[in-house]
Amino acid sequence: MNVVTVKNYHQLSVQAAQLVTDQIAKKRNTVLGLATGQTPVGMYRELVQKFQQGEIDFSQVVTFNLDEYYGLSPEHPQSYHYFMWHTFFRYINIPTENIHLLNGTAEDITGECQRYEDLIQQKGGIDLQILGIGDNGHLGFNEPAIGLNSKTHLVNLSEETIQANSKYFNTIGEVPRQALTMGIGTIMNAEKIILLASGLKKAHVIARTIHGKVSTEVPATVLQLHQDVTIIIDQEAASEF
Ligand code: GLP
Repeated sequence: MNVVTVKNYHQLSVQAAQLVTDQIAKKRNTVLGLATGQTPVGMYRELVQKFQQGEIDFSQVVTFNLDEYYGLSPEHPQSYHYFMWHTFFRYINIPTENIHLLNGTAEDITGECQRYEDLIQQKGGIDLQILGIGDNGHLGFNEPAIGLNSKTHLVNLSEETIQANSKYFNTIGEVPRQALTMGIGTIMNAEKIILLASGLKKAHVIARTIHGKVSTEVPATVLQLHQDVTIIIDQEAASEF
């Protein structure tokens, strides 16, 4: 794993945006895997700025998002659909048909997960996957104890994750208890992976991700087995290793 420690969150966002820009410059029809959460917001802001300055063209880029809450419609303000459109997609020139997210309200969940896997294959696989990390080491919504070969599937969220994500909802009772997520196997099939982490509260899990034994208890440790992972962290997130 290539670990890049930068001074602060701004530098993390700039570096991550630069790597995405370089990837798209190399391959105009890059297939990007995208993440939600607070951590990549700065990267999206930098990418929008680069687009506005004519440094990047998304017209042939294809995207697949990692996950979506089960039961939330795309219009729900806490859905990841809504987040992605309002944080990123609406500001760039990516064609709508190139944007892919899981449908959290699909009637046939198994069919929806299979559709997503098939579509990723059809587009030639993910060239570059962006990841954040949950406080318990989850990737996407792959909570501890999920098999390391899993494909896109429905998961039960852990109490810890429900607590952590409750800050975005009015009450904890409104937080969905399930989600659809690309599996660890889906993520590991990406050509390249960039994991972003910022702040003291990620320091412990980052130390375990980099130095810990590969185990389903901390799903992110599986990244040690991937051949092209860059971890970009700020000094606070790097403070425990
Ligand atoms: C959610 C998302 C993850 C994300 C994590 C961390 O659980 N499903 O993809 O990495 O939150 O979020 P944050 O970046 O806000 O710490």
